[in-house]
Amino acid sequence: MDEFVKVSNLVKNYGNLCAVDNLSFSVRKGEIFGLLGPNGAGKSTTINILTTLTEYDKGSVSVAGLDTVRDRNRVKAFIGTVPQDIALHPFLTARENVRFFASLYGLKGKKLKEEADRALAFVGLEEKGDVRTNRMSGGMKRRLNIACGIAHRPGLIVMDEPTVGVDAQSRDLILRSILTLREEGATVIYTSHYMQEVEEICDRIAIMDRGAMVACGTEQELVALATDRKTYEVEGKLPAGLDRSGLCGRILLLPDVKDARFTEREGRCVLEVATALEFDGFMQLLQLLEREKVTLRGINTREPNLDAVFLALTGREMG
Ligand SMILES: Nc1ncnc2c1ncn2[C@@H]1O[C@H](COP(=O)(O)OP(=O)(O)OP(=O)(O)O)[C@@H](O)[C@H]1O
Ligand SMILES: [Mg+2]
Repeated sequence: MDEFVKVSNLVKNYGNLCAVDNLSFSVRKGEIFGLLGPNGAGKSTTINILTTLTEYDKGSVSVAGLDTVRDRNRVKAFIGTVPQDIALHPFLTARENVRFFASLYGLKGKKLKEEADRALAFVGLEEKGDVRTNRMSGGMKRRLNIACGIAHRPGLIVMDEPTVGVDAQSRDLILRSILTLREEGATVIYTSHYMQEVEEICDRIAIMDRGAMVACGTEQELVALATDRKTYEVEGKLPAGLDRSGLCGRILLLPDVKDARFTEREGRCVLEVATALEFDGFMQLLQLLEREKVTLRGINTREPNLDAVFLALTGREMG
């Protein structure tokens, strides 16, 4: 389904502040959809509207064809939420927390126990089931927060910055578990202000800023909006008497090469070759350098990322 989640012309004001400004996007069934934007962009507000926690002023939001206002209860039953602010009962154990949240979605008896244990194992907390939540580390609580949101096997999982404040190992576990949820058939909406995470796991990405949509698409589509080139930085030993501008001229004759120049970087001479984003002439470039007797020491590829996209489209760093 191409419009499994559909947000149309959504507006949410807090007094004079427009937190969500005429926002439209849709999420396809079975994809991981990233909402990316700096602090205050309106990500959590959008997520909270989607999960029916917050009311909105204008527009419409539907999930699996159900309107989030008219069919609120049915939509709620269908969604698993992992909130930005960890919502756990400090004096319950990890297992009790998961069971409590899953029971709110109607799970009972044997099924409740099984699904709670499955969710705990899913986030790597199978051995921590009996630990009281206020004795758990921040990273464990983050993982438990996820287990509580997914135990009832929701069709749509909405995660708001689930990796904030966790170490690299927990982060990897969380990201891998999100990929597994997709493999199991869930649709995932994922907010973050970490570009790298979003690039790593999301099928499509919406970039938000100041409540509005900046751009939406796959990583490649977004990058193509910002630039038409990537850069190879070639480090090597040049033969004595090399005609640098002659070499650059010959490189420029290769197909899809847009620029070639020598620059100084930290006291070293680096050859920078800018090419089209889809560049098939890499071997030709290497062969040409070999013919010119350049002794290669390393090549670094600078691919434009979502930081560059944000900068190009808003004129500001994402921060
Ligand atoms: N309950 C509220 N009352 C008043 N203003 C609010 C409320 N919730 C959010 N805002 C404001 O709405 C704007 C968007 O906030 P939101 O929490 O949606 O941003 P965000 O993209 O999730 O940011 P972050 O990355 O910091 O989590 C901000 O300016 C915020 O101060
Ligand atoms: Mg937020």
